[in-house]
Amino acid sequence: MSWHVLSPTSAESVQAEFALEVLTGLSERPKRLNSRWFYDDEGSRLFQRIMALDEYYPTDLERGIFEARGDELAERFAGRTLDVVDLGAGDGTKTFLLLDALRRAGAEVRYVPIDISEGAMASCHAACQEALPGHPFQGVVGDYVSGLRWLAQQDDRERLVLFLGSNIGNFDKPRARAFLRRIWSGLSKGDHLLVGFDLKKDIEVLLNAYNDSAGVTSAFNLNLLTRINRELGGTFELDRWRHYGTYNVFTGAMESYLVSLDAQEVHIEALRTTFHFEPWEPIHTEYSYKYLERDIESLAEVCGFDIEARYRDDRGWFCDALWKVR
Ligand code: AVI
Repeated sequence: MSWHVLSPTSAESVQAEFALEVLTGLSERPKRLNSRWFYDDEGSRLFQRIMALDEYYPTDLERGIFEARGDELAERFAGRTLDVVDLGAGDGTKTFLLLDALRRAGAEVRYVPIDISEGAMASCHAACQEALPGHPFQGVVGDYVSGLRWLAQQDDRERLVLFLGSNIGNFDKPRARAFLRRIWSGLSKGDHLLVGFDLKKDIEVLLNAYNDSAGVTSAFNLNLLTRINRELGGTFELDRWRHYGTYNVFTGAMESYLVSLDAQEVHIEALRTTFHFEPWEPIHTEYSYKYLERDIESLAEVCGFDIEARYRDDRGWFCDALWKVR
C-alpha cells in the first residue's frame, strides 16, 4: 500500500460536523459558514476551474515561481535525504515541479502527501505515478497535525513541509498562527516549511480574481447552499441569493458573502430548524487574507521559524517563503 490510514473518518462523523457547523453558523449574527465546506466533489471541480481562470492569478504565479526558481530552491537540499510533506496537494502538479527539481539537485526524496480523504490520496498517487513514474511515495490519510506526528515517530528523516497555494490565507490571523505553530510542534530543529502567501496588491486585481467574469467563483460560493440542500435537506432557492466578493482594507482580506435578495425562510430538515433571512442579509463564507512581507516575517518569528529565503514573481504579487525550524 502506498499510503497509511491513520484514523478512518467515517462519512457519518463528517456529516454530523457539517450539520453542527451549519446550525451554529446560521445561528450567529452575522451569519457565517466555514469555507472548508466548499469542497464537496462539485466544489472541488469548480475550484479546479477557478485555478484555470486568467483572473485568478495565484496558481499560475506560484507555478511560474517554481519553474523559474525551483532549481535554486532545490539546491539548498542538494545531496540530502528528505521527506517532502505536502499539506493539501490538490492535483499535485506544482509539487511535482519541485520534486523534479530536487531530483535534479541530487536529493533523495520521498513524497509524503497528507490528506484527510482517501479518495484524494488515491488520485494524488495516480497523478504522481504518471508525472514521475516510480517516485518514492508514502501517503498519510489523516489530518495534517496527526499526520506529521505519526511521521515523526516512524523515522528520523529531515523534512520539508509544503503548504502552498495561499491556503494559509483562508485562516484568520489567530488561526493562521495556531495552525503554523502546531505544524512547528510536529517538526524537528532544522526542518523546513515552504508556505505560499498571496501578497497585498492593487484592489482591482483582487476584486476581479474573486468576482470572475465567467461567474465560476459565484457558482463555487452558491454550491455551498446546494450542498446544504442535498446533504441536510435544505430548501435554499439559489436564484434568491447572490455571490458578493469584497476587499476589507482594514484587515487585508478578500471576503466572500452570499447575500439574500429578499426576505425569506429556509428550512433545514436535518437541523429541525427554519432560518429567517432579511432582504440583503449576508452569510459570510470565506476569508482570503493577503500579506505584506513584514506580516510574513512576524508570523515566522512568533511561530518559531527563521526565514531562509523568499521566492517572488516579478510583479511581487505572490511569495513562497522558505522557513527553517529555529
Ligand atoms: C483555496 N484558497 C486558497 C482559495 C483562495 O484564493 O482563497 C479559494 C478561493 N476562493 C475563491 N476563489 C478561490
